[in-house]
Amino acid sequence: MYAGFDEGIFLILIAMMEFETEIGTSVEQAVGFLQQDELVAIPTETVYGLAANAFSEKAIHKVFAVKQRPASNPLIVHVESISAIRQLVTHFPETAKALLERFSPGPLTVLLKKNLRLPDAVSGGRPEVAFRIPAHSITLALLRSTGFPLVAPSANLYTTISPTEPSHVLKNLQGKIPYILDGGKCTVGIESTVVGFDEVDGPVIYRQGAITPEQIKEVAGSVKFNTSEKSVLSPGQARLHYSPATPLYLVDRFEPLPGYQTERTGILCFDHFYPGVPREHQFVLSAKSDLEEAARNVYRGLHYLDDLKLDVLVAERCPPVGLGHAINDRLTRAANRAEKEGEPDSGV
Ligand code: TXA
Ligand code: MG
Repeated sequence: MYAGFDEGIFLILIAMMEFETEIGTSVEQAVGFLQQDELVAIPTETVYGLAANAFSEKAIHKVFAVKQRPASNPLIVHVESISAIRQLVTHFPETAKALLERFSPGPLTVLLKKNLRLPDAVSGGRPEVAFRIPAHSITLALLRSTGFPLVAPSANLYTTISPTEPSHVLKNLQGKIPYILDGGKCTVGIESTVVGFDEVDGPVIYRQGAITPEQIKEVAGSVKFNTSEKSVLSPGQARLHYSPATPLYLVDRFEPLPGYQTERTGILCFDHFYPGVPREHQFVLSAKSDLEEAARNVYRGLHYLDDLKLDVLVAERCPPVGLGHAINDRLTRAANRAEKEGEPDSGV
């Protein structure tokens, strides 16, 4: 924490702060708030982010306080170009360059060793910081106007469902931030793929996401998965995450759950409705069985069903191919609250 401040008092003050949260399309207004170390929700192609000036330790602490997320969990730094990343790192592997050139702007996040321009609070003290160039015209325009990079975790409270439209952000953060920059509905719908690099600069996937391992392999020639529990102390990998308030179970195919009334059950269906359950309690991810459409809809479906305040939700697994793996990863973590009830959380 910075000199003269008591962290506890600071966090209480932030938690008490109330704003008239405005939704609008003014880049100028968003820049104004960010320059004053305030937080602004920003659209990206994946999910909405809760943005703050990445050079300001004060603004970064506000992100953790508002999101109610442990400060040890690292944030992604959003920039507008590959050369902007280059200015913030000490080592820029050729593989990272090739991947960024192929997939940016877009849903790829790379982990690189930061230099001293970024505060340690960005990465919770880790030497590597996550960088990404989001593919959304209004946010790229914002990044060009601020003159500083933006940290932006997903704009939801810690462990809850990620937001893919302004109304989702408002549900969690109304009164807690001054501005939501409206960029419409997110076109990709699940978070970026997080890729680090091993000793020989080979790519290692830390979080599955919108870019598939096959796509990474095509560019880099190889791909590995990070399996070390210790180094994955990062929010997207927490056992419980992306969760609705209603208990959620993950299944291969829907069948009525013992102990629950069918009329009080909601279903996140992959490609078709089920008979015997009210249609308005079902959300079909993609009637044409298209995984890109399913990814775009998965958080929207979870928000919709959770808002119905039913007794229980059931989500069907998507086919385990391509993007299906990343969607199933999110659904598995979202379902952990109900399925592991009573077990102690891993504490991440
Ligand atoms: O698509 C996205 O990535 C969205 C949009 C807003 O850009 N952002 C997002 O941020 O999902 P967040 O904070 O909710 O998730 C950050 C993820 C973590 O789950 C973690 O896997 C990874 O980024 N991460 C960030 N910094 C890391 C680091 N230094 N080491 C390991 N993993 C890191
Ligand atoms: Mg998140």
